[in-house]
Amino acid sequence: MQGMADEVKALVPYVYSSNRYADPANRKIVAKHLEQFANSVHSVPMKQGKKILGDDPIVDFSITQLEADTKRASGAFALGRIEYSRGVAKAVMNHCFRCHSMAKMGGVAKWKVSNFKGLDLNPVERVDLMVATRDYEMATKTLMSSLSNFSYAAEKSFEYETLMKKYLALTVRQPTDSGPKEAMDLFGKIDGSGQVPKHLKYYVASWESSLADWNKAMKSKGKGSLYSQAQVLLRKGRDKQSYFKDHSGDVEFLRAAEILHKSLMAQKSGVQKSKTYLLLGETYEVLDELGYWGLHEIYYESCVRTTPKSKVSRTCFNRLRNSLVLGDSGSSGTHLPLSERQRLKELEKLIQ
Ligand code: HEC
Repeated sequence: MQGMADEVKALVPYVYSSNRYADPANRKIVAKHLEQFANSVHSVPMKQGKKILGDDPIVDFSITQLEADTKRASGAFALGRIEYSRGVAKAVMNHCFRCHSMAKMGGVAKWKVSNFKGLDLNPVERVDLMVATRDYEMATKTLMSSLSNFSYAAEKSFEYETLMKKYLALTVRQPTDSGPKEAMDLFGKIDGSGQVPKHLKYYVASWESSLADWNKAMKSKGKGSLYSQAQVLLRKGRDKQSYFKDHSGDVEFLRAAEILHKSLMAQKSGVQKSKTYLLLGETYEVLDELGYWGLHEIYYESCVRTTPKSKVSRTCFNRLRNSLVLGDSGSSGTHLPLSERQRLKELEKLIQ
């Protein structure tokens, strides 16, 4: 991954400055590094990822997306679609975030975001880059300080909301000893400030109480199997929601995701694995805004493929079909692209 991180380092000064990225004098060097970045994805040690993260479709999903997006950024740049290419290059950091927010163990990049001066980085981009280089301490510090800036919450509520979600994803999925208490206190302060926009107040209050639950739970050992612990959390998360994809249960969903990923590491095959994939699908269907778009569909599909003749695989198939159909046309499946219709047809055959 160091090779990939080095390409990111070479691109940072250009990607985070629209002037430098578009300057014809830099055309050659940017094109070269975009191309090398795209090629470096091949060298991501997939097996190593699987060894650390388990037989988890999130690994293939992330690498496929990383590869597609780096190629898209490089291709668009070659065609002169400069601003578009820059947007894609920035979004790539989300793929690093997705994996790195799951596994903290291992090395760090040989460079730091803070060594660069004069970059045009908003707080979300800064945090993404820090997590891409695995500088978790700085990322958490930056998140906490941005989230304590309440005038920022009022001015840029969209960015602020993204930062809250990133903070929760990082903190809840990578629990440290002091993490739960710190998070609970931070959200208490945010709630008490009276300065968060109305539409976020509802979430802040809900997350604050979820974090208090989490803080309590972290002090005792979980009861029952990992799978049943996740089930309980998903039920709690759903109870908090007022509608499908409402984010008020996100802390419970994140906690469930963390447990489910962990339980996958020990599972080799069979119905239990399919059941775990189903719950992960349900989890990421709610959490999809954090760069997990489409991930839930991969879990439903993996569930079907793992044990096609089981009862749970039928449920997974139906979830997948609903998601594809609703996501595509809002009402009927008649406009689904051919490739998706073929995907469904093939899976339907498997379960019969
Ligand atoms: C498929 C999941 C995944 C994706 C996507 C991913 N990483 Fe990693 N990364 C890991 C894992 C797991 C480790 C820990 C491996 C270890 O240290 O043995 C790691 C470690 C690293 C390290 C530590 C040094 C090293 O070579 O082990 C760096 C630097 C790094 N990643 C950079 C990046 C950057 C930059 C991106 C995005 C462009 C990225 N990674 C995307 C999973 C991922």
